[in-house]
Parts: sequence; structure tokens; C-alpha cells
Amino acid sequence: MSMLTAENQAAEYMVECEPISTDEYRIMADAASRFGDRYGSGYVTRRAVLAEIGGLQQLVRAPEVFMGDHTTHQFRNEHGPQTAHWMMSGVYTVNDESVRFEVDSHRQAAAMTAVAWAAARTAGGPGPEAKVSIFRGALDPSWLAELPTPTPEDRPVEQLTALVQGADFARFDTTEQVRAAYTEQHRTHVFEGMNATYGWAYLASRWLGALSRSDLTVLVDLFDSRHGDGRLDTHYDCWYNVTVQLSGAKDWRVGRGLIVPGEEIVTHTMRAGDVMVIPHDVPHHVDTPADPGHSRHLIFTIDRRESEQLTTP
Ligand SMILES: [Fe+2]
Repeated sequence: MSMLTAENQAAEYMVECEPISTDEYRIMADAASRFGDRYGSGYVTRRAVLAEIGGLQQLVRAPEVFMGDHTTHQFRNEHGPQTAHWMMSGVYTVNDESVRFEVDSHRQAAAMTAVAWAAARTAGGPGPEAKVSIFRGALDPSWLAELPTPTPEDRPVEQLTALVQGADFARFDTTEQVRAAYTEQHRTHVFEGMNATYGWAYLASRWLGALSRSDLTVLVDLFDSRHGDGRLDTHYDCWYNVTVQLSGAKDWRVGRGLIVPGEEIVTHTMRAGDVMVIPHDVPHHVDTPADPGHSRHLIFTIDRRESEQLTTP
């Protein structure tokens, strides 16, 4: 993918997406600018990211469902077809049942989108030039702690939830079922497709999808684990992965060296506020360390090439 400018986007890039207000654009530009100043490979990266976000603001047009102060979204889960509805600031409902209070989805989405996209670009992708890249302290842990997210104890009824071990995703409908299955075998919780259940994640998914011109939806998944929990085997993914550590710590080993002897392996620990980019098809392996003994991280599946799948070497 070539670097885009606001000018040359106009001819080729017209997407349906939630519009970005002047206020949200200001939040995005501030966040991207701060990121660029701190991590960018100089002025060019910062300018390019700001131009892309500026182009997004100018060129998105509203889908019909957007009605100014609230938006609706149709999706399907194991309970069948769902209609989600949320206010910019207010009560979020699914099928007319209030399930979650969203403080300010648009402002949260704007800040997260800008940092995720700035990280994606600074790492050189999406595309063949991309490198595994880690940005320490890119987001404020106290801000991340305020972000509405599911936990094993407190999840919306429609939030897809899996327990993972090796290459197996065991999926459950109710919090009670999840709790019983976890007690039986301690495994990492994966809250899949938060973009269908949380307002900020839905918007960030749409905006990141537009910025990256992803054909498939940018999924937002959350991994929640404790030390000793089962976790995925070494694997690689068919997307450009931007990972945000929300809390706790996670040990990562990343690189082709995991499957090809002699090739590179990057080993590091992600802590709250750190952001990492893993390009397509780069093997990785995680563990939740004993100190502090728990971990929560998000992933954004940018430029996803196939339906979601786990690929093990
Ligand atoms: Fe992965």
C-alpha cells in the first residue's frame, strides 16, 4: 500500500462510515501527533498519518442508520439476529434491553483509532515493509482502565466468549457456562468481536477499516488471562495485528525464528499502555508471567485477508 495524501485519496477513496465530527478529528489529530512526536521516524510519518486521518474526516459519508445522536447496528450471534443501538453518550441497548452504559464512545474511539493507526503506519504497514514494532507507553493506563470492556465476571449477554487452549476455541453462551468451564480447565478468556457489542470498538473498527481500506471487518478481540491459564499454541494470523496491553503483563516471543531455526525472535514483556504491531503471518507465542499474574490485551485485525482462523505451523 502506498502512502496516501488527503489529495490523492479523494479520487479513489470514498467509503461508507460513521462520520467524524470536528471534535473527534481534533482528538485523533492530537493523539496521532503526540504519537508521531514520540515514536515516529521523523516528520514524514507524522505528516502522513495526519493527512490520512484528515482525509478520513473529509471523505467518509454517513450510512443511513446514522441519525445524529445515536446509531444502530445489525449483527448476528449465537442468539440469532440482533439489533444494537447506542447513543454517543448514554445507554446502550440490544433488542431494547439495556446492557451497558457507554460514557463517550466516539471520543474513546477517536483516541484509540489514532494511536492504533499511527502505530500501524510507523511500523511500516500494512504491507511488505512492515516490521514487528513495540511502542512503550503509547497509551495512558488510567485512560485504558476507563475504557468499557468485558471481563469474565461482567460481560454483555451478547458478547461472544471463548476459552482457548492450544488450537481449540471453546465457545459459551452464558457467564455461568463460562465460569463452570473455566473452573474445570483454566484457560485464557477471549472476548471475540467486541466491535459488535461496544460502541467505541464498533467505531474504531469502522474507522480503522476505512483508513486501511480493509475488505473484511476489522475485528476487536480482548484476551484476558491469569498466570498458568491455558493459551494458544505458537501460531500466525492472516491480518496486520495491532495489540494494546490494557493491564497486567504478557510475555511475547515473536518472529520467524519460532518455526525456522536461526531466524529472528523478538522476546519482550508488554505492560499496560504498550502497543505492538505484528505483521501478517509472523509467528508468535504468549505467556502470562507470574508477576503481576494477570493480563488483558486487545487486538485489532487490520487488513484481514481471510475469515478469522488460527494457523499453526
Ligand atoms: Fe495471534
